[in-house]
Amino acid sequence: MNLVVVSNRVARGKTHEPMTGGLAAALLPVVEKSGAIWVGSSGRVRDGAQKEPFAEIEALGAGALAMLDLPAAHYGGYYEGFANSALWPALHSRSDLIRASHEDYFSYREVNSFMAKALLRFQKPDTAFWIQDYHFLALGAELRDLGVTQPIGFFLHTPWPDRAVIGGVPHHRELVEAMLAYDLIGFQTQDDCDNFLGYLAADLGLAIENHVVTSRYGKSHVQVFPIGIDPQKFAEQSAKAVSHPDVSRLRRSLHGEKLAIGVDRLDYSKGLINRIKAFDRMWTLQPALARTVSLLQIATPSRGAIEAYGNLQSELAKLVSDVNGQHGEVDWTPIRYLNKGFSQTVLAGLYRTAQVGVVTPLHDGMNLVAKEYVAAQNPADPGVLVLSKFAGAANELDTALLVNPNDIDGMARTIATAVSMPLTERRMRWEAMMEKLRAGTIQQWFADFVDALQETQADKAPPEPV
Ligand code: G6P
Repeated sequence: MNLVVVSNRVARGKTHEPMTGGLAAALLPVVEKSGAIWVGSSGRVRDGAQKEPFAEIEALGAGALAMLDLPAAHYGGYYEGFANSALWPALHSRSDLIRASHEDYFSYREVNSFMAKALLRFQKPDTAFWIQDYHFLALGAELRDLGVTQPIGFFLHTPWPDRAVIGGVPHHRELVEAMLAYDLIGFQTQDDCDNFLGYLAADLGLAIENHVVTSRYGKSHVQVFPIGIDPQKFAEQSAKAVSHPDVSRLRRSLHGEKLAIGVDRLDYSKGLINRIKAFDRMWTLQPALARTVSLLQIATPSRGAIEAYGNLQSELAKLVSDVNGQHGEVDWTPIRYLNKGFSQTVLAGLYRTAQVGVVTPLHDGMNLVAKEYVAAQNPADPGVLVLSKFAGAANELDTALLVNPNDIDGMARTIATAVSMPLTERRMRWEAMMEKLRAGTIQQWFADFVDALQETQADKAPPEPV
């Protein structure tokens, strides 16, 4: 089988080490090993009709990385518009932030159709396509319209919300109907899967049997595939990374003080405001913790051209500055706040240095930072993960200290508990989490999805005898 993996953002190979978390960083090592062709956006746009849409095709392991310049006239409406101002807020249950014009939807469909045409270049009789994430909900349907009969799978890295929330996205019905062109639709959690099936049953009136739904495209299988990491690689990376200059400097600056770490894209789904408020509350309620525990918050700028992101950046900067002003001392800064990305190697070392990892999104598909924080710990003296119960990762990492990110007082108390947790309890919780990480690696996730996609072909009509 020839596998073609498609995502909007791709991570480039060795020369460009991937930055903070996300889909592209997670996929790179497995796609590289699999020999697949990985197709995505080059990050640049081009005007007019394109004879050759591929800007770059380079080797990636035994396969290739192919990057397209997307059409200039539609890129904004597709990326900042429909994908990130209509779908992203809806998928994260922020109906109040949904902004969508009909032009944006048109551009989204145009880019999906453009991508479909470009993909034909890689189509062979034994090709299977695996489409990633909400940027390309309609790509399968576009491929079918072009006559593609090969298996096409889709995996959503974000949550899928309640049907009432999806109902707030213009053209939702058309889009979900288009998704049924996929032979296999994968979600991160059972809740996401149930929400999707609930929509199909209630809004589209479709019958679902054993997670299989039949539409005009044929059968679609709907299943759960929780994404993982490579815990062993991360553990090795973190042990080595402690000697990296950034990590040693951080250690030296701590003077015995304990460190909590948060690493997120600067996104409203990540619960950053509530997290900072929880630290503020903790230092207010327990002044003894001032000077003894500080927070390193890395908030990597993201989608800055979108108003909601710009607003969040200003609000967060002001809040951090207020909290530092309130609790700081001449020789102590409570929150070290950084608006930049770090390589995975450095992150692994930073995670290992921090006694507490705080991952408190309001909604998150999986959240791989939570898994990476756990894998990066020193087994002899592991740190404590404080994890939102609304991150997909909470289903597996249930021995983390689970919190409700809307409950600021509760989070403040839990962070204080994490800081003073005795070694025996830390080890017990950490070992249970490591077991889960080893049982559900990224390699396993990749193989499970590809196998399941192939299995969907078993119930297709056999070819007519010639
Ligand atoms: C999330 C999405 C990915 C996306 C990433 C970074 O993880 O699920 O599809 O690539 O955020 O966002 P960006 O808009 O910078 O690609």
